[in-house]
Amino acid sequence: MSETTRTTQTPGAPEAAVAPSPAPSRLAERAAALDDADPLAGLRAAFVLDDTVYLDGNSLGALPAAVPARLADVVAREWGELRIRSWTESGWWTAPERVGDRIAPLVGAGPGRVVVGDSTSVNIFKALVAAVRLADAAEGADGDDGVTESPARDEILVDAATFPTDGYIAASAARLTGRTVRAVAMADLAAEVGPRTAVVLANHVDYRSGELYDLPALTAAAHAAGALIVWDLCHSAGALPVQLDADGADFAVGCGYKYLNGGPGAPAFLYVRGEHQGRFDSPLPGWNSHAEPFAMEAAYTPAEGAARGRVGTPDILSMLALESALEVWDGVDPQQVRAKSLALTDFFLECVSALLPDGAVSCVTPREHARRGSQVALRCEGAREVMAELIRRGVVGDFRQPDVLRFGFTPLYTSFGDALRAATVLAAVIDER
Ligand SMILES: Cc1ncc(COP(=O)(O)O)c(C=O)c1O
Repeated sequence: MSETTRTTQTPGAPEAAVAPSPAPSRLAERAAALDDADPLAGLRAAFVLDDTVYLDGNSLGALPAAVPARLADVVAREWGELRIRSWTESGWWTAPERVGDRIAPLVGAGPGRVVVGDSTSVNIFKALVAAVRLADAAEGADGDDGVTESPARDEILVDAATFPTDGYIAASAARLTGRTVRAVAMADLAAEVGPRTAVVLANHVDYRSGELYDLPALTAAAHAAGALIVWDLCHSAGALPVQLDADGADFAVGCGYKYLNGGPGAPAFLYVRGEHQGRFDSPLPGWNSHAEPFAMEAAYTPAEGAARGRVGTPDILSMLALESALEVWDGVDPQQVRAKSLALTDFFLECVSALLPDGAVSCVTPREHARRGSQVALRCEGAREVMAELIRRGVVGDFRQPDVLRFGFTPLYTSFGDALRAATVLAAVIDER
């Protein structure tokens, strides 16, 4: 395997294990020993899985076994029998904040800082426009229409390699708030943020390469320049420990359907820093974020706390599926999740090195632990067809343009045996080509 990533080591970061390739027969023993010693191995039974090697939890998490019965009860009893009474008697009305409080510890947020609802895309819009409004308020320059004339901080900085939705929404938020978007490489972000920056929109883990960025350092750099920062945690929430409160993040959003296993189209989450909550001016003020929703007042008075991030009627079936899915986290130590994630991706890379001919694939995911999320992205010729064949043979990852094979490792249910089987099948497919 050739290396296309930068080889610089993040200061203080432990070196990724680059063990000499053991004979392939030893890999099976290693996988078995690692699985035997895995303190999280028992959690696999909490998911509905089969013989497939499922390495696509970074796109759609597997189904937690408790969800079908919970959803059946929600539909048959809470909706079917209690009907509208469930808004209060079954706790539907308060679900967005309650489920937010369940996610909060996974992203290092105190209670009352996270609300669940809408898609990630919609929450990016809320966070970004609200962050620009906070920047305007800090300049003391917002006009009657909410758009500042010739603001000194006239740009929104966006990760140049961002997932597309973030870029599209940033462009629209910029037009609405009289800013321009400037795309910069994440590696240059700390140097590029400056006196003209109102807000930075950054990904914690790159969806394509799996590179992990330094959230505390980049947050500090944004603040040192007088800017606010919005983090997209889609590929880190549930995959590795995040400390939003401690690291000073202003806003953050993330998916419910990837590492949180909430199901297809599960609602997303929105984090608003405690000190910003009282001035959080949502660009989507619906009746659900009103202080007194049932007063049905013509004038809008925002609710206090996380509820201010709500918009309209929550998607209860999806939200309660997510709530049930989050129960698998009870008693799980996020540090153990991170340790297993790194061990899995190390082992997969080791198997790929041992089993594939040199040069057949190149790894775009950084080797250094401090710069690696919970996926491995390999570049290879004919990647689309290679992934289609892997899926036919029971190894499910995904393909991203132009030539990237993505393998997502979900520490709650992926085994070291899965990692070895994936590399073995990949070697066979590539060999046959
Ligand atoms: C990094 C990132 N941001 C945003 C999104 C979009 O999320 P949604 O489709 O839920 O709005 C995704 C979806 O995969 C993503 O990976």
